[in-house]
Order: sequence, then C-alpha cells, then structure tokens
Amino acid sequence: MADLQISVVALVVCLAGLVWSLDNGLARTPPMGWLSWQRYRCNTDCVQYPDDCISEKLYMRMADLLVSEGYRDLGYKYVNIDDCWMSRNRSKDGSLQPDPVRFPNGIKSLANYVHLKGLKLGIYEDFGTKTCGGYPGSKFYLQQDAETFAAWGIDMVKLDGCYTDVSDMDEGYPIMGFYLNQTGRPMLYSCSWPAYIKQKDFALYQKIAKYCNIWRNYNDIGDSWDDVSGIIEYYGKDGGNFSKVAGPGNFNDPDMIILGDYGLSYDQQRVQMAMWAIMASPLLMSNNLETVKPESKALLQNRRIIAINQDPLGIQGTRIVKMNGLEIWVKPLAPKGKSIAFAFLNLNHGGGPSKVSYPLNKLGAMSPQGYNVTDGFTGKLIGTYKSKDKVTVMVNPTGIFLGVANFLGQ
Ligand code: GLA
Repeated sequence: MADLQISVVALVVCLAGLVWSLDNGLARTPPMGWLSWQRYRCNTDCVQYPDDCISEKLYMRMADLLVSEGYRDLGYKYVNIDDCWMSRNRSKDGSLQPDPVRFPNGIKSLANYVHLKGLKLGIYEDFGTKTCGGYPGSKFYLQQDAETFAAWGIDMVKLDGCYTDVSDMDEGYPIMGFYLNQTGRPMLYSCSWPAYIKQKDFALYQKIAKYCNIWRNYNDIGDSWDDVSGIIEYYGKDGGNFSKVAGPGNFNDPDMIILGDYGLSYDQQRVQMAMWAIMASPLLMSNNLETVKPESKALLQNRRIIAINQDPLGIQGTRIVKMNGLEIWVKPLAPKGKSIAFAFLNLNHGGGPSKVSYPLNKLGAMSPQGYNVTDGFTGKLIGTYKSKDKVTVMVNPTGIFLGVANFLGQ
C-alpha cells in the first residue's frame, strides 16, 4: 500500500513533472540562522542538563539571543530544530508529535513565539523509517508530515536520509518537495540526499538543485579543525562540479558554523567564516549564543563577510590553486565582471606566517584600469593595483587572507 502510494505520486510528479520544480522563491541567498545539532546533539536529559537538552526552552532562549545580541538584524533569521524533538510514537491519526515533556506547548506555539520575534522556525525529519537518532521517520507519511509542518507554521524542513534505501532517494526527495509545495506554505527545503549517495556527478547535482533549496553533500561537521579543513578540501576538489549548480534558490551546504564553540583557534575561526562566505554556504551557527566570546561574535557579525556570503549573484567560489599547503580561492561578486572576493588560505601547521604573492589577472581581475584591493575582514585598503600586479600578503598558519578587489573604471 505504502509503496503504491509512492509510485502513484512518483507518476504524478513525473507527469506534472518534467516541468515541476521546487520554485518556492526561497534561499535567493544562502540562508542564515542557528541549528541545534552540532552543539546540542541528541541530549534529551533535561534533569541533568536543563539548559542544554533539546526542548522548547532551548529554542526560545536562542531565539531571544538572536534578537538581543544583534544576530537577527544581520540576517540570521532561522531557528532550526534538529533531531530528537519528537515523541517516540506518532499520534493515533498518524501525525508527528513533539516530546510532551520537553515541548509541553507544542511546535505551533514555538513557531508563534519565534515568528513574533521576526524569526523563522526550521524542523528536522528523515526520509526513511526512522531519523538518524531513532525517532519516527517520514517514510509512508510524506504528505501527512508536509501538511503537519505547514499547519504548525514551519519555515524550513531538513530531511535527513537514515534508515532507507539510497536507491529510493532519487524519487522520494522530489516527492517530499512536491508535497511541501502543495501545502502552499513556503518552506525552505534542505535535503541530505547527496550526502548519502557515493557516486555523485553533475547530472545528479542538477537534479538535486531542481528539487531542493539547499543540500548537504558531505560528512557531518564536529567541533574540530580537521572537520573544517576536510570539508574545505572536499569543496576544493568539487567532484561532479557541484559548485556550478549553486545560485539564487539553490546552495550546497557544507554544514554548520562552529565559531563560538571549543574546537577552533581564532585564526581557524576566521578561516571557517571566510571560506563559508567564499563558498556561498548557508550560515547556520551551532553554538551557545549566550557564551560566544566577543572575538567570535565579531567574526560572526562581520558585515563585510556576511555581504560576500550574501552576494546577490550567489556564485559559489572555487579553488584555483593548491600548492605546498597554500590554496587560492575566488568568488565573483556583483557587479559581475567588476568585483571579486579571493582567499589565500594557509593550511600549514608549523612555523610562522607565509608570504603569499599572486597577480590579480590570474584571479580573474583583468581590467586594464586596475583595482582597489581591501581586506575582506576590516575593509582596510591593501593597495591599488594594475591587473598584472601581484598582491602580496602574509598569511598565518591555519589562517587566511580574504581580499576584495574592486574595479576602478566605469
Ligand atoms: C545526521 C545529519 C546531522 C544530524 C544528525 C541527527 O547525521 O547529517 O546533521 O541531523 O543526523 O541525528
């Protein structure tokens, strides 16, 4: 019966179909906000961890802090629930329900709370029979769950991919997108589909971009430099040319921002922030907004970096050089052909700063009139250059120089 349900809908999606796509008007630039998973995981013990367990109180507190600490006004709008929010069982009519002890007022009331603060609420489910944490999955309930989320006032749905056949995803993820669209409520659709598929090629990414707003395509981030640098390497390799499908409405998701947690040095935090900007990645922080140190907060709230991330062209930057532990990345900015952001990334661990020197024209800045180059973090003028000139800067170990080159002509 359930399989039949999937096939009938698949047929509808196919027929409706070749022309149907998730054109919900959302994620014109990478979404920004907060997501519980990396920092709070599946902590359901509110007796021993009253402040850290997955509960409505946690999300309300983070919503309060997004506003009072100034994050919302810089664009961090989503408050996203991750795994372990549910009751172990569906209700009698098959609906999802939150854990009654940890979410005594229900998700709709949490959504109202968040909306009144000018924020948006995201939720987590799984395409399989269970979530990765073992809670009820959406398999056989896709339409009902999409309708439940809409009725609750949800604004983003992250659909994970545990406990299912990977071969069903190709059909199943578009079907869930179809049901989300059918509710009439715009819900940003975050798919974990490509993260579960081993062989990924350009055609697959094109299909994913047609049906999902954002999608994870690599390993989970933990609170460490190894994780951050591993993700950067994966994005640098760009297997299947996934960078090419990014653009307004569709973004690759290298996973959460961990600034303000425990694992990164100051320089490494600069790297994550600058690289997620260059890669046009969602900026979903997973930290305790109450205890983020001032220097991390200043990076998270750096308007220049956010502007690079949120550039309206939505082009994902790519790696153009990798040599001796040094990498060079470039992201074109609006106005197209006139401005670029670029990064000199030093992945070496030992010793002191390295001198990096590279000509602007090889970064794609070719105009004969020349360019002003500023520091992407501070806005400080580094210099005025002809396109053949080299920009030379010192870059700290596991550190980064982020530059912005602005065309000087008309
Ligand atoms: C997977 C996802 C994570 C998180 C957990 C929850 O591992 O990739 O981001 O959602 O499941 O169980």
